[in-house]
Amino acid sequence: MALDSIWDVAFGNELNTLPEEITFLRNLPSTAISIPTTTPKTNNAAINADTANYLSITFPKPSYNISVRSMLIITDGLDMAATSPFPRQAHWLLRQTPRYRHARAYKTRLIQERIADAKRRVLSAIPSFSPNDDNEGGGRRTRRRKRSGTNDTSTITASSSEFHGITCATDHLVRRETLAARKENRAPAYDSPEAKDELFGFLVGGHDTTATTMMWAIKFLADHPRVQNKLRHVLRTEAFPSFASSSSSSSSSSDSSCTPKIPTSAAITSRTNLPYLDAVVEEIFRCAGTAASAVRQATRDTTLLGYSIPKGTDVYFMSNGPGYIQSNALNALITEDQRSASSREYRERALPAWDEEDISAFRPERWLKTTTVKTKTAVDDGGGDRETNEEKETTTMVFDVRSGPVLQFGGGLRGCFGKRMAYLEMRILVVLLVWMYELVQVPEGLGGNAAFDSLTHKPKNCYLVLQELKY
Ligand code: HEM
Repeated sequence: MALDSIWDVAFGNELNTLPEEITFLRNLPSTAISIPTTTPKTNNAAINADTANYLSITFPKPSYNISVRSMLIITDGLDMAATSPFPRQAHWLLRQTPRYRHARAYKTRLIQERIADAKRRVLSAIPSFSPNDDNEGGGRRTRRRKRSGTNDTSTITASSSEFHGITCATDHLVRRETLAARKENRAPAYDSPEAKDELFGFLVGGHDTTATTMMWAIKFLADHPRVQNKLRHVLRTEAFPSFASSSSSSSSSSDSSCTPKIPTSAAITSRTNLPYLDAVVEEIFRCAGTAASAVRQATRDTTLLGYSIPKGTDVYFMSNGPGYIQSNALNALITEDQRSASSREYRERALPAWDEEDISAFRPERWLKTTTVKTKTAVDDGGGDRETNEEKETTTMVFDVRSGPVLQFGGGLRGCFGKRMAYLEMRILVVLLVWMYELVQVPEGLGGNAAFDSLTHKPKNCYLVLQELKY
């Protein structure tokens, strides 16, 4: 699902992995699913007893098309390198294997083709700009653009009408490169190695991260029935009451009279002011710790908290540690004079620290605060038709994104490019899951928060028990 979404956003066409998986599973003969007769035992007798009634089933997967296979081979390779004690050497060895080389060659060809498609789409919308009017080699060439009968090589700002029909990130890349090349008076280099790397980084950055966070979301919701029930109540009574009104026809099809209505993605993404939903989504991101760190390289010799950091050192900013999801024991060890002047200045504006008591707990309420709103109401003052304005105070619950520190999307100029898309995806997933199903807590032996770190911070166990809700 996450790969399908990012593929569509990157290239504007559908990969269809999810529908293929669904069809494959629907048509699977029951004999193809191997059901173990016993659940794997742990060393803990209580857990064994608890899980005795559950059998964990792993469903087979379809044979994916070559685009998906290549993507998975390459991302698995990055995963492997990230977990190896010798990442560079391990990845070098992997790159020598025929399987990896084929996947990489396919990926390069695919990205090249998609850039060429985007070029045709975008540049054909610009009358005086021919698709062949660029320099593939990336060399510099002065290009003359005729405007009003004069030879004009000056910077030309494209009006938005010149670029109508943009459908995906690759189109944007072509558009931006066109504008940059015009501004710098050079030939555009659409499929430079950097452009291809950016596109591939976009696919990787937007796929594994979202998929991993979705796994955590399922676990947190199942493990916190109170949160799940409260959210379901808010969604049905406040957020989308028209979809909850009756078990009439489905929102997506009008043929069934008993299918429950399901909020559309347009309704889910356009509905603002839903503090509890925002709080649940934000808390999922905080607790998941999907991307454990952001990295920056020191561009000059410097010091951090009194420690010298030579130029070229990689500095990791951990988003899954003290201060974010663990109590900040380190704070007590740092003296004021160790902090830099800018750090001391920033303290005034810094976000409040999380409550040390429950910093590690999944508690969406930490993102909510009550606020008092004064409204003026026109009331009859009892004097016939005369009315006066009376000020009324109402307290209301609001979502406060500045409730405390988080770093799961990094920050600054190189902060996550897809943050907003990640929020949209998570919002839709959480609403639909909670709307349609009760996520039942699985026994400890099949659940828990144990994780392993590869490219992302993944749960060790992600078993799902769904109870379909009838309305
Ligand atoms: C749960 C979802 C996601 C998480 C936790 C996440 C996290 C991150 C983090 C920590 C960084 C490094 C930021 C820094 O160094 O300051 C990053 C960079 C990036 N992310 Fe995401 N990301 C997510 C989803 C996405 C999606 C959906 C996309 C694409 C639409 C995306 C595209 C990127 C790109 C292109 C970069 C590199 C930005 C740059 O170097 O300028 N991410 N992401």
